[in-house]
Formats: sequence, structure tokens, C-alpha cells
Amino acid sequence: MNIFEFSKLKLPIIQAPMAGGFNTPDLASVVANSGGVGSFGFSFTRPEKINEILSATKKLTSGFINANFFVFKPVNLPKKDVQEEAIKAIESLSLNEKYEIIIPKEPFYFDLKSQIEATLENLPSIITFHLGIPSIDIIKKIQLYGIKVGITATNITEAKSIESVGADFIVAQGIEAGGHRGIFDQESIDEKITLDNLLIKILNNVSLPIVAAGGIMEGKHIKRVINIGAKAAQLGTAFLTCPEAGTSKVHKHYLLNEQKRKTMITKAFSGRMARGINNKFIEEMNGKTIFPFPIQNLVTTKLRQVSQNKNNGEFINLWAGINFNKVRNLPAKELVKKLCEEFKAEI
Ligand SMILES: Cc1cc2nc3c(=O)[nH]c(=O)nc-3n(C[C@H](O)[C@H](O)[C@H](O)COP(=O)(O)O)c2cc1C
Repeated sequence: MNIFEFSKLKLPIIQAPMAGGFNTPDLASVVANSGGVGSFGFSFTRPEKINEILSATKKLTSGFINANFFVFKPVNLPKKDVQEEAIKAIESLSLNEKYEIIIPKEPFYFDLKSQIEATLENLPSIITFHLGIPSIDIIKKIQLYGIKVGITATNITEAKSIESVGADFIVAQGIEAGGHRGIFDQESIDEKITLDNLLIKILNNVSLPIVAAGGIMEGKHIKRVINIGAKAAQLGTAFLTCPEAGTSKVHKHYLLNEQKRKTMITKAFSGRMARGINNKFIEEMNGKTIFPFPIQNLVTTKLRQVSQNKNNGEFINLWAGINFNKVRNLPAKELVKKLCEEFKAEI
């Protein structure tokens, strides 16, 4: 296996892990073959499928691949009256399609150990975690294989605890980032730190290498975070419009054509804070009762599918970072080439 070092990257970028079908073997392998890191967000993927996807990817690249997982916390269904209110909130949406609202049964997420076992069979170069820290046993086991472990931090306290468990690097996620906010405890006060400030704070307090994530769309942004002291930049939204990405047609349409809209952070899709393009779902769910994470994600799956099948972007999670109006409609290879040229042109 090609042991990962930041210094081995031709362009210091990680194509972000994005759970929900956005990452594909084609996308990840093109980025890896171009000298960056290609990633998979496997949080909602069963172990057998992880195996299948990573095996397929290995046929396309021997470059650096990252497999990423959410650290889910045990959760129960809320009391009956809360469930009824949360269902009523969904039923009151102005979506004029028929769909069934199903209250899911346990387990509400896959067993992390089994997901990691399937991943280890395929020896990716990196495994990263989001929304918390996995058990030290899992971290140590991964490292025994020569695989580097990265964990997302959104503040200094989280960064320090990542260092204390022996992880290899930190993904510093600024408030600008698209998708789920990596904050460990969502009941705690979110400091909402912007990426550059977060980088400075973590660099001053922690000695692990740092990957910068949040709103990075162009070579000059990559250069900016490297100049601050990050070892690499993690870009999610920038890759969503690539033809190799699994992004739905309607999501791509909003990214490319609804650029006057703002992004919002909402719990309403999944039960956990995540940033996406503002739409009717976010507005109509504002202040309504929801199920806890990730139960709300399961409960809203059907309605999001129905909306997507009708090419209606108003009731789906249009995850995007704040700078989504800078997306480029380019194949991944050309996008990486462009980022590389822009990066090199910056002093
Ligand atoms: C569609 C989408 C899905 C995401 N899913 C994940 C995920 O599964 N795991 C993870 O660690 N981060 C996830 N993120 C967050 C990214 O890792 C990263 O923090 C973010 O994309 C950076 O901001 P940007 O989108 O402005 O580049 C996701 C982001 C997006 C846009």
C-alpha cells in the first residue's frame, strides 16, 4: 500500500467525503490519479456495498483514497406525542405528491465496527471520521494497517481531544462548509468559527497536521489556507457539479442556476445541523418539531425521493457551502487541472 503523507500530494487537496451517493469510484479515482485524495462518505453504506465500491475503485487507481464515517450516538424514538407532531410537520409541507411516512425501527444506523472491517479489507490510505471521535480501539486498529486517521474539528476543544486520542490529522471545518456540521455535541453552543480563524486557533494550540474545509472553490483559496498553515484543503461543493459525481440532476441545476439563493444551516432534513441551498422545505420546517438525528433523515427519505424524481428541488437537501456560486461545470480531471494552475499562479 502507498502510505499516505501530505508531502506526496501533487496538489494538496482532498475531494471531500460526501455521504448520500455523491462520491463515485469515477470521481474519487480521477482525483486520486491527478495527485489529490479521492474520498467516499460511507456513513449510510452497508459493509458489503463499501467492499464493492472500494474494490471497484482500486481497479481505477493506485492513488490515495479516503473512506469516511459519521460517529453516530445511540438514539431512541421520541415519545408518541413528539412523534405525532414531527409527522404532522412533514404532512403540512406544500409538496403535492403522494408518499408514505414510515417511522423507522432500530438499528437507525450501521454498526461502525462492521463498516470499518469491510473498509480495512480494501486498504484505503486514509480513514476519516465526522461528528465525533470513534473508540480508541478503532483508531489503533486502523493505524496498525498503516492507514492514517483524520477527524473533523469545528473548535479548539474538539481539536485538542482529537490530538489526545492519537489521530494523525485534523480536518478543520469552518462554518462556511456545505453538508453536515462536524460539531461533536450538537446540544453544545456552536461557536460558528470561520475557516481562517479556526485554522489559526488550532495551529496555535495543537501540533497535528491540519486539513482545511469550508468554502474552498478556487486555487487561490487553497493557497490561502496553505499559507495560513494547513497541509491540504478539503473541497466538497466544488466537485458536486462534475459529471463523475453522483449528484442528482436537480441538485446540479440549483448549484449552477440558483446562485442568487443563500445557503442555510438546518436540522430539518436529518436531525443534525447541515448547510444547504435555501428552499421551501427549509422555510416551511422552520421551528417545527423533528425527530432526532439520524431518525429524521430516515423519516424524510421518501419525501425527498419523491421530490427528486419529479425534478423538484424544493423538498430535497441541496447541500452546498456558502461559496457555491463559484462552482464550475467541469469534468473532475479538468477541474483539478484548473485548481492546480490557479494554485501555482498564486504567490
Ligand atoms: C454534499 C455534501 C455531503 C457531505 N457529506 C460529508 C460526509 O459524509 N462526511 C464528512 O466528513 N463531511 C461531509 N461533508 C462536509 C465536507 O467534508 C466538507 O467539510 C465540506 O464540503 C467543505 O465545504 P465546501 O462544501 O464549501 O467545500 C459533506 C459536504 C457536502 C457538500
